[in-house]
Amino acid sequence: MREVLHEAGEQVSESIEEKVASIYADVVEKHKRKPVRDVDKMTEILKKEYRLLVDKKTVTLTVAAFLAGRPVLFEGPPGTGKTEIGEAILSLWAGKPALVIPCSENYDEYRVIGDFHPLMALRYGFNEKSFIPRPLLAAMILDTGVLVDEIRRSNEEFQNLLLDVIDKRRIIVPELRRVFRAKGEGFQVIFTSNPEDYAQGELSDAFLRRVVRIPFNYPPPELEAKIVRLRYDADAELDSGLLKSMIEVVNLLRQKAAYKPGPADTVLWARIAGRLAALRGRRQAAVRDVVEAATIVLYKRVNEEEIVDEVLEKVFGLRP
Ligand SMILES: Nc1ncnc2c1ncn2[C@@H]1O[C@H](COP(=O)(O)OP(=O)(O)OP(=O)(O)O)[C@@H](O)[C@H]1O
Ligand SMILES: [Mg+2]
Repeated sequence: MREVLHEAGEQVSESIEEKVASIYADVVEKHKRKPVRDVDKMTEILKKEYRLLVDKKTVTLTVAAFLAGRPVLFEGPPGTGKTEIGEAILSLWAGKPALVIPCSENYDEYRVIGDFHPLMALRYGFNEKSFIPRPLLAAMILDTGVLVDEIRRSNEEFQNLLLDVIDKRRIIVPELRRVFRAKGEGFQVIFTSNPEDYAQGELSDAFLRRVVRIPFNYPPPELEAKIVRLRYDADAELDSGLLKSMIEVVNLLRQKAAYKPGPADTVLWARIAGRLAALRGRRQAAVRDVVEAATIVLYKRVNEEEIVDEVLEKVFGLRP
């Protein structure tokens, strides 16, 4: 980025398209592949390359929404894979990595479309030379996907701006007197949202009308075990019975505790337990590794440590 600004400052010749190409060359242009739009193939690549177990229905509904020209909203509890799955599907669809916009309350068009570098604007005026393109505009120019993460954290004005861009597949930058248009089908948008997380705003009916909503849930125990297996990479072995008990623990905590561990926590828990065992020179994770790992992965709130301990004792017969 610094180089681009420097170059733009010195040579004063880069167009927005050239700037986008150079800024995102490393993350997007270098990782092109043939777009994958077939549902079976996408599901298979998600598993083999991205190590994501995604049910065919989710993939089918997402692809159908893209074909119908609608953005998709992945909504559900934390750690159920919304962000990673969204980013991976967008990347496969476009044949190049998606760009991610992590939302926050004060996000506005300048943060996602672009803004003027103050010093360069003073020197060159408000024109392409001093304009810094941001991810939404970049994705449209590069014809790749955008993952708008945690949309509920943004304000309504920002949400409407995004929907306008998506509907019309174009971005107008009045200061530059330019209209940028999506040139291919690669530009698609997936929003993620987690209604149960703290400090979440409501999504307006207008917003919901314009997106296709796909709910995410905690996986059934057998599927969660498969997810952990797919992601497990420690040297020490993890016995199936032990894994089953771990999944029982997280399911009990989902009922009893305010902090509900998602599959992302279960995966991390297993990986750390496996590493603790390996560090202690054992080839197989033992109950005490699992219980000890729980204290660093499942203790999220001080006032809930007791609940975690009780559940661990109930399932493993051992307290940390
Ligand atoms: N279906 C799945 N396949 C493989 N891994 C999964 C799956 N679901 C969850 N995971 C685990 O969770 C992690 C991804 O979680 P991710 O951050 O995408 O979830 P999220 O739903 O976006 O959570 P949050 O609401 O906290 O943002 C993966 O790295 C993996 O460990
Ligand atoms: Mg997420």
